[in-house]
Amino acid sequence: MTVRAAKLFAEHFGDPTGAVVARAPGRVNLIGDHTDYNDGFVLPMIIDRHVEMVVRRRLDQQVRIVAADDRERVDNTLGEPIDYSNPSWLPYVLGVAHELAERGRISSGVDLVFRGTVPQGAGLGSSAALEVATALALDAVFNLWLNPIELAELCRDVEHRYAGVHCGIMDQLASRLGRPGHALFIDCRSLEARHLPLPFEGHRVVIIDSGIRRRLADEAYNARRAECEEAVSILRKVEPSLNALRDAYPALLMSCERRLFTDRLGRGWHVVTENQRVLEACESLARGDLPAFGRLMNASHTSLREDYEVSHPALDRLVETAGEVDGVLGARLTGAGFGGCIVSLVKEAAMPALEDRLRELSKDLSNRVIAVGTAEGAGITEVVA
Ligand code: GLA
Repeated sequence: MTVRAAKLFAEHFGDPTGAVVARAPGRVNLIGDHTDYNDGFVLPMIIDRHVEMVVRRRLDQQVRIVAADDRERVDNTLGEPIDYSNPSWLPYVLGVAHELAERGRISSGVDLVFRGTVPQGAGLGSSAALEVATALALDAVFNLWLNPIELAELCRDVEHRYAGVHCGIMDQLASRLGRPGHALFIDCRSLEARHLPLPFEGHRVVIIDSGIRRRLADEAYNARRAECEEAVSILRKVEPSLNALRDAYPALLMSCERRLFTDRLGRGWHVVTENQRVLEACESLARGDLPAFGRLMNASHTSLREDYEVSHPALDRLVETAGEVDGVLGARLTGAGFGGCIVSLVKEAAMPALEDRLRELSKDLSNRVIAVGTAEGAGITEVVA
């Protein structure tokens, strides 16, 4: 536990003896966006930015939360209604406690202090890191024995219910299960997850933040998901066995072109081709073929821009600029899009050239470059004796 968190805990709630400290990392998605809620494939990896949370069980129904970074405090009683619109972290932290209480898994409250280093709203899984850290901490103090999938599903449900974002399972599973030095391949239908070693020696995964924030809760994300559901119901008239866009294929999409209209055709096309790219990306990792991996990243960006229409001119400019630098193998927007970050795979030796090129584009851009270092996976890091 950091000194700051310990001091704040003592200041607000007294002696932390008996508290547990939980940690959950953010993630960057290497390839496979907007496929998770279409039962498809994704390939995220955890990053060296995380949420840390100190939690101690209470005997009454109170939940008292302190956000160390903003010095905000919210007190609530389990079961009592609360306005979740403010502060921005509230649905992800208090939502987990309320959901567990409603499911009859916990019957008393907690004192909780958290802090984090995952940039918020940047498409790096900050809300999932908050949810997963909270769920892990509550799991430990109440002896719930939630398995990783149950825990990730609970966190996803919290996001739907308390934040109104109809997200898929990728971020929560990645944060819960991700391991250093590995990407996590997830089949979002079966929830089978495999850790794939990253053969990135001599290379860096580089995230560049556009600085543009568009809350995920924005209608746009939910609208994309609704369009996919509409596309499924249209395609089902021709192919009744189809359950999700994962089951579609190019010939089927083309045969329904008129009924789908351009936008839903594009959504379906992206999902079908992106799933294929994720599988090819896994194969290229296994072969150690990084140029092929980079080309798949580039193709993914084009598809997200043209067919899924979730890019932003600032993201396109960053992808283009990175692509001009010799030694950048590939770049794409990552996460939900509409703003946030791009991710790129860069030869170590090309890092200075990339930074120079970004500086030419905009002076403060170099401050928004994150070269991903060694991450640490989620877990309980300490029990305060
Ligand atoms: C957000 C959601 C995820 C996923 C991505 C897009 O990060 O939380 O479930 O849909 O967007 O791939």
